[in-house]
Amino acid sequence: MGFWVECILFALLSLALQYVGGCDFFRGKWVPESDPSSYPVYNSATCPFIEREFNCEKNGRPDRNYLTYTWQPHDCNLARFDGEDLLRRLRGKKIMFVGDSLSRNQWQSLTCLLSTSVPNANYTIDRVDDVSTFTFMDSGVKVMLDRNVYLVDVVRENIGRVLKLDSIQSGKLWKGIDMLIFNTWHWWNRRGAAQPWDYIQVGNKTYKDMDRMAAFRMALTTWGGWVDSNIDPSKTMVFFQGISPSHYNGTDWNEPTAKTCQGQHQPLLGSTYPGGLPPAVAVLKAALSKIKKPITLLDITNLSLLRKDGHPSIYGLGGRTGMDCSHWCLPGVPDTWNQILYNIILNNKAMHS
Ligand SMILES: *[C@@H]1O[C@H](CO)[C@@H](O)[C@H](O)[C@H]1NC(C)=O
Ligand SMILES: *[C@@H]1O[C@H](CO)[C@@H](O)[C@H](O)[C@H]1NC(C)=O
Ligand SMILES: *[C@@H]1O[C@H](CO)[C@@H](O)[C@H](O)[C@H]1NC(C)=O
Ligand SMILES: *[C@@H]1O[C@H](CO)[C@@H](O)[C@H](O)[C@H]1NC(C)=O
Repeated sequence: MGFWVECILFALLSLALQYVGGCDFFRGKWVPESDPSSYPVYNSATCPFIEREFNCEKNGRPDRNYLTYTWQPHDCNLARFDGEDLLRRLRGKKIMFVGDSLSRNQWQSLTCLLSTSVPNANYTIDRVDDVSTFTFMDSGVKVMLDRNVYLVDVVRENIGRVLKLDSIQSGKLWKGIDMLIFNTWHWWNRRGAAQPWDYIQVGNKTYKDMDRMAAFRMALTTWGGWVDSNIDPSKTMVFFQGISPSHYNGTDWNEPTAKTCQGQHQPLLGSTYPGGLPPAVAVLKAALSKIKKPITLLDITNLSLLRKDGHPSIYGLGGRTGMDCSHWCLPGVPDTWNQILYNIILNNKAMHS
C-alpha cells in the first residue's frame, strides 16, 4: 500500500478514535489535583501487593509532587474512577491484559484501584505459567495478565529460539475473555543478551535479523488477523494499550543536560512534547486501521510523554544501580490510563446491559 494511502487511513482512524462519546479523552493537559487530600487513591499500605519494581515511594522516592496531577481533557471532564461501580458493571466478567511489563504496570494499577475501592474486598491472586489472575471473590470479576512480550510466538527449535512473525498460537489463551487489552513494543528493539530469540521467521524464510520496525509491523498484522478471525464484538471488547514512552534523553523535553529521567519532579505543562511522537505510534495506528473488527486504541502516548516525572528512575527494581525511565511508579500515570479506560466503558452502550 502506498505511503499516502496509509496516511489517509491513519487520519480517518484517528478521527474515528477521537470522538469516543463526543470528546477526545487523550487530548488535554496535566493540572494539579483540585482535592489533594483524596489523592492518590491508594498507596503501598492500602495496596500491599504492588511489586517492588513500581513501588517508588516504598523504595525511597522522597518527592510527592508527581502524585498530585490529574489529567484534564480539553473538551470534557473525566469521571473519577469508581471501582465499586466498575466491579458492578463487570460482575462475573474476565478482563485480560496481554503484553510485556507495561501491561503488568497497568494491570497492577487496575487491581490496586479496584481493591482499594471496596472496603474489605475479598480477593485471590494466583499464577499459572505466564497468566496471573486477580479474582475479586465478591463480584466474580477476574483481572488477568498474560505475559507475552511479542504477541506472536517464540518457539525453541533445533537452530535455536525462533521469533515467528506469522504465528500466534498463544491466542488460545485469549478466547472467552470479555475484555482484552493488548500491548507490544518495548521488546522489539532488544539486542544482545536481552534479545530472547536467535532467528526471525516469516513464512518459510528464516533470517538472522531484520529491520525491527518492519518486524513489529508484521507481528501487528498477524495479531490483527487473529482479532478479525476470532473476536465476536458482541461478546468481547478489544483495546490496544498504545505505545508507552520512555524518557532517557532530556533533549526531547528541551533540557539537554538531563541524561535520564532522574530528578524530574514535575510534568511538562501544556499539551505538546518537544521531542514529538515515537515512530512506533504511526506504525501501530496504520496496523490498527487495517483491522476490520472494532478495536479501541488507548492512545496514551501523548499524555504519558508529558510525564517525564512519572518513572521510577533509581526507585525501581535496580535501586541506585538501575535507571528505570520506562516503567511508571504506582500510584502514578497508569492510574490515569485506567481512569480513561473506565470512562470509555461508561460511554460504551454494550457494557450497560
Ligand atoms: C499527539 O502529539 C502529536 C505530535 O505532537 C500530534 O500530532 C497529535 O495530534 C497528538 N495526539 C493527541 C491525541 O493529542
Ligand atoms: C468477604 O467475605 C466475608 C466472608 O465470607 C464476608 O463476610 C464479607 O462481606 C466479604 N466482603 C465483601 C466486601 O463482600
Ligand atoms: C513452505 O514449505 C512447505 C513445505 O516445506 C510448502 O508445502 C509450502 O507451500 C511453503 N509455503 C510457502 C509460502 O512457500
Ligand atoms: C538525544 O537526542 C538528541 C536529538 O535527537 C540526539 O542528538 C542525542 O544524540 C541524543 N543523546 C543521546 C545520549 O542519545
